[in-house]
Amino acid sequence: MRTPGAGRRWISFSLPAPRWFEEDGGRYLGTADTVVTRDPDSPWVNVATYRVMIHDRNTLGIFMEASRHGRLQMQKYFERGQPCPVAISFGHHPSLFLLAGTEVPQGLSEYHVAGAMLGEPYAAVKGPVTGLPLPADSEIAIEGHIVDEPRDEGPFGEFMGYYAGGRSPAPTIKVEALYHRNRPVLLGTCAGRPPYDYSYFRCPMRAALIWDILERAGIANVAGVWCHEQGYSRAFTVVALKQAFAGHARQAGYVACQCRPGAVSGRYVVVVDEDIDPTNLDEVVWAMCSRSDPATGLEIVRETLGTPIDPIAERRDDKSILEYTSSRAIVLACKPFGMLVRNEFPKVVEAGADLRARVRKEFLDLFK
Ligand SMILES: Cc1cc2nc3c(=O)[nH]c(=O)nc-3n(C[C@H](O)[C@H](O)[C@H](O)COP(=O)(O)O)c2cc1C
Repeated sequence: MRTPGAGRRWISFSLPAPRWFEEDGGRYLGTADTVVTRDPDSPWVNVATYRVMIHDRNTLGIFMEASRHGRLQMQKYFERGQPCPVAISFGHHPSLFLLAGTEVPQGLSEYHVAGAMLGEPYAAVKGPVTGLPLPADSEIAIEGHIVDEPRDEGPFGEFMGYYAGGRSPAPTIKVEALYHRNRPVLLGTCAGRPPYDYSYFRCPMRAALIWDILERAGIANVAGVWCHEQGYSRAFTVVALKQAFAGHARQAGYVACQCRPGAVSGRYVVVVDEDIDPTNLDEVVWAMCSRSDPATGLEIVRETLGTPIDPIAERRDDKSILEYTSSRAIVLACKPFGMLVRNEFPKVVEAGADLRARVRKEFLDLFK
């Protein structure tokens, strides 16, 4: 780890900090940033993407939802009456952004996962103000402390596609050093109505994390998981499995909708049989329409983790960000297990493999 020279001490408005959407409440330097914090009780260094707005030349606003690791770490400092040391990079290798915006498990640093992905340790430099590791390839970075002095932040055009959440008090960062390259390039992203650029890494990453957790939780026969772009990777998850016993699909649905990568801003988890491709909405909706009985195939899980940026959340000025809840629906779009086990579920109408092969051979020209 190298130590950079002394930094400047103010946020220059000549930095490339756009107002991304017309109705945004300020200029957002941080949209694809990496916010580095350390757990005060262990060596765990967390790296996460949280939006960062400029208040003034040495004050930033940071929006961290209730379940975020950075918030949990910050809270520990605040409970001890201390400010939380923070270092933020606003331009770095895309692999670090990809992991900073993904629910990497607690206690594991995104730097380590990035190193595993890249095949060599992610190069970092030790920030002279906080001692926190900043990406060595950073284009723009700051160091300072998050203080328990909330200031109004937002609104911001968010990933669900709305300006929900409005303007509300959020923690502030006192900037103590600013570093940047000459003519720095800001790494940024612009969400809004899905899909958008980062849908295309979040959907596979989230699907893989949920699949991994399902297997670790002992759910057998998982054939596939997909988080759909239309549901901004969070709100429409499909799990395909080969049912082995009654209640198997329900078990998978509950785990998928409540595990950490599946819980935040979730809405619908659809469980389908293994003959349905979970990435194919035509097949998924057909399974929902033909294999699920609304009276028995819908489970509602009430008052689970919510967020104020949900457009249907009931917002109140005196409500803390930690208080928001929302419900989840598990749609059991699988063949009823009793019919399946007795071999009574009707056959799907489709040409058999032999017939398909014969037609293909005979009319090869048509399929070229
Ligand atoms: C482009 C992008 C912007 C994000 N902005 C925020 C944000 O402003 N606040 C927030 O709490 N989470 C935001 N997230 C989600 C978190 O980065 C994500 O949940 C991540 O897992 C949080 O890291 P943590 O698990 O270490 O807390 C964003 C994710 C992406 C990809």
